[in-house]
Amino acid sequence: MAVSVLFVCLGNICRSPTAHGVFEQLLAEQGLDHLINVDSAGTGDWHIGHPPDSRMQAAARQRGYALEHLRARQVSAEDFQLFDYVLAMDASNHRDLAAMQPLDSRAELKLLLDYASDSDLTEVPDPYYGGEAGFFEVIDLVEDAARGLLDHIRSRP
Ligand code: 4NP
Repeated sequence: MAVSVLFVCLGNICRSPTAHGVFEQLLAEQGLDHLINVDSAGTGDWHIGHPPDSRMQAAARQRGYALEHLRARQVSAEDFQLFDYVLAMDASNHRDLAAMQPLDSRAELKLLLDYASDSDLTEVPDPYYGGEAGFFEVIDLVEDAARGLLDHIRSRP
C-alpha cells in the first residue's frame, strides 16, 4: 500500500494534530501503521514548534488519544510532492492549500470530511475560540472521517 497522508488546519494545534493522532491510532489497531505514513501541518506559522493546544490534548486524552508528542509545523509546497493525500479541515484551509499546490502535484487535495459518513458537515469547525464541546466535536468528526479514509485507502487499486 505505502500511502502517505498529511492533515492540514490553520494552526496545527487543534484539528489536524487530532486527525494525526486518531488516524495513527486506528492504523496501529489495524496493524497498518508501517504501511501508511501520517503527518500534520498548519497553513499559518504562529504555532510552529508548539505542542497541541492543552484543551485539545485534554479532550483527546479523555477519549483515549495521546497527542502530546506532536509539534506544529507549517505546510509547504514540497508537501504536495511528499504526500499522496493532503486533507484540509475546512474550506478556508482548502483554498489556501489550492493556491500553493504546484501544477505537478503528486498529492490529491481534499476536505477531510469528504471521507465522513455520520455527519452532514463538510468542514471540521475551528474549536479555538469556543467552549469545551467544540473540542469533543472535533474528535467525533475526525474519528468518523478516519474510518472512511482508511476504507478508501484500502479500496485503492
Ligand atoms: P487549528 O485551530 O487550526 O485547529 O489548529 C486554531 C489554532 C490557533 C488559531 C486558530 C485556529 N489561532 O488563531 O492562533
